[in-house]
Amino acid sequence: MARRPFIAGNWKMNLDHLQAIALVQKLAWTMKDAGYDPKGVEVAVFPPFTDLRSVQTLIAADRFPLALGAQDVSPHEAGAHTGDVSAAMLAKLDARYVIIGHSERRADHREDDALVGAKVHAALQHGLVPVLCVGETAEDLERHGASAVPVGQLKAALEGVSADAELVVAYEPVWAIGSGTPATAETAQEVGAALRRALAETLGEDAAERTRILYGGSVKSGNIAGFLRMPDVDGALVGGASLDPAEFAAIARFEKHVGV
Ligand code: PGA
Repeated sequence: MARRPFIAGNWKMNLDHLQAIALVQKLAWTMKDAGYDPKGVEVAVFPPFTDLRSVQTLIAADRFPLALGAQDVSPHEAGAHTGDVSAAMLAKLDARYVIIGHSERRADHREDDALVGAKVHAALQHGLVPVLCVGETAEDLERHGASAVPVGQLKAALEGVSADAELVVAYEPVWAIGSGTPATAETAQEVGAALRRALAETLGEDAAERTRILYGGSVKSGNIAGFLRMPDVDGALVGGASLDPAEFAAIARFEKHVGV
């Protein structure tokens, strides 16, 4: 089964809703000019909560070939959870994806594997596709190598998840995020393969075969091709470079660089 490559732009805490509209317009025009074909690669943007409605309206009105995602979700259904945003609210906004367990949330908000797992369940309950982020710190890398921590995080988050669940896994080494120093394509492949084996152990072979595994951490148009050539890397989660429409569109056109 061929997995459709996925290029995801995580804007993090950048751009107000007016800036978001301007960026999405520029991105859509740049992709159109470049002859973007949604059949070959799926492209999604993950704006902050305050921008979601504006971006959703724009995508729907102009039929832009972009999927929408959020950067976080509450593990709770509804009610007395000040500041939280529920999966039901995101689904109502036509969000298809939600990033869960990003290392910045694990660090800033002390999110642990149990909370990440609860968020995965909440997202799936409402038909959202979790983009589950896993990755090791520089210290973990030194102590345990590249795969052990991400595989452990994946297994913990998938406890109780059914075999037919649709999800995306993003391998993001913490030391590579925003540092300008990406992992090598070979390391991304090694960890991607380990994550796929872990998916097979937890959810079964079918799920392992169809689930897309992304690499994230200092991805640019100049290095995307190396990652996408790897059999167990099916796309990228892009932070900083997703704020530049020309650069992000060039990443989405990785096939031109891969030469496949
Ligand atoms: P970066 O961020 O591309 O700026 O390194 C990636 C991410 O945190 O998702």
